[in-house]
Amino acid sequence: MWKNMVGYSLLAVVSVAAAGFAYLYFRSPATAPPSNIKVDASSARIARGKYTYMLSDCDGCHSPANRQLYDNPPVEGLQAAGQIFPDPTAPGRIVVSNITPDRETGIGNWTDGEKIRAIREGISRDGHMLFPIMPYPYFRHMSDDDVQSLVAYLNTLPPVRNSLPATKVDFPVSLLVKGVPRPVTAAVKHPDRSNKQLYGEYLATLGSCETCHTQEERGQIVVSKRFGGGRRFGIGDQVVVSANISPDKQSGIGEWSLDRFQQRFYKHSKHARKPRVDADPEKFSIMPWDNLSQLPPEDLEALYIYLMSRLPIENKVESHPVETGGKG
Ligand code: HEC
Ligand code: HEC
Repeated sequence: MWKNMVGYSLLAVVSVAAAGFAYLYFRSPATAPPSNIKVDASSARIARGKYTYMLSDCDGCHSPANRQLYDNPPVEGLQAAGQIFPDPTAPGRIVVSNITPDRETGIGNWTDGEKIRAIREGISRDGHMLFPIMPYPYFRHMSDDDVQSLVAYLNTLPPVRNSLPATKVDFPVSLLVKGVPRPVTAAVKHPDRSNKQLYGEYLATLGSCETCHTQEERGQIVVSKRFGGGRRFGIGDQVVVSANISPDKQSGIGEWSLDRFQQRFYKHSKHARKPRVDADPEKFSIMPWDNLSQLPPEDLEALYIYLMSRLPIENKVESHPVETGGKG
């Protein structure tokens, strides 16, 4: 997902004044024991898990990126090996974990239940909470089937030995995030695919579309402007601003046909993982185009139907501002 960004927008941050400082200080994040499930490792499961891994762009954070190529794919041999989150504005040293099956430096010794708990509930193996740049507030909606398939896929990744330091979150953010983890206590059923709008919402949730496509204030997305775009991201001197994907007719995608929406994704396939050149026709972006262009047409249709059902937000966005010399 974001290769660089201020990610703590997911914080369901409780106001310190309201909750009481001492309460927060002494409070421990909510946890529940992991299940003792052993996931089915059939090839159908693994294939579905690979799809979710791609939709949710686990590589975007967990794999060091090769920025010489389009779409910043993982550096060869380092897929899922983890890295220090490359955002100087992050509140502390946020370390994206090695999630390969390496037994010493990755999650090779974890049970499947522990992996599922980390992904959906934000609790690491030893019981400490994960910083919510890791999108577990969204992943908690991942169906039981999908999270099990995802773990079946993770278990097939080549182990990579890559030892990383621990995350250290600055005060007071470290306090404010304590309320974010929440156990998943009931079964999460897979949404009915024939209800396209609902299925589209599910895909948009796992793809964290709103995180990037909504403006944020003080580390939280502005809910009333959901999908209105306008969030800025920068890596070095390159800047990109997220597009308005709400159904506003002038500034959003309200006039787009389904075909135009789908082609906006599919036209990326021809550049995928090719060397980036200065005359880059698609310019610099952190939008996970390569991943999302692999979605089948019916899944893009579901996303389209869902986005079209949202509130139109009037907000004209220049995704590649000229201040960056046109390289965007
Ligand atoms: C936006 C960035 C981001 C994305 C996308 C992301 N993660 Fe993470 N993930 C993190 C960060 C950061 C941590 C470590 C947080 C900490 O140390 O407090 C983490 C931690 C984890 C852990 C816990 C590992 C440990 O040692 O405690 C697992 C498991 C995990 N992620 C799996 C996944 C999977 C699977 C996906 C895709 C479905 C994914 N993550 C997508 C940022 C991300
Ligand atoms: C990591 C951040 C990020 C995530 C996650 C993300 N986007 Fe984007 N998206 C962007 C940025 C930045 C742009 C503008 C630059 C560009 O077009 O590449 C963009 C552009 C787009 C566009 C083009 C709009 C236009 O006017 O041309 C569409 C459509 C889109 N995103 C849909 C989605 C959907 C659907 C999802 C979720 C499945 C999603 N995006 C997830 C960052 C993101």
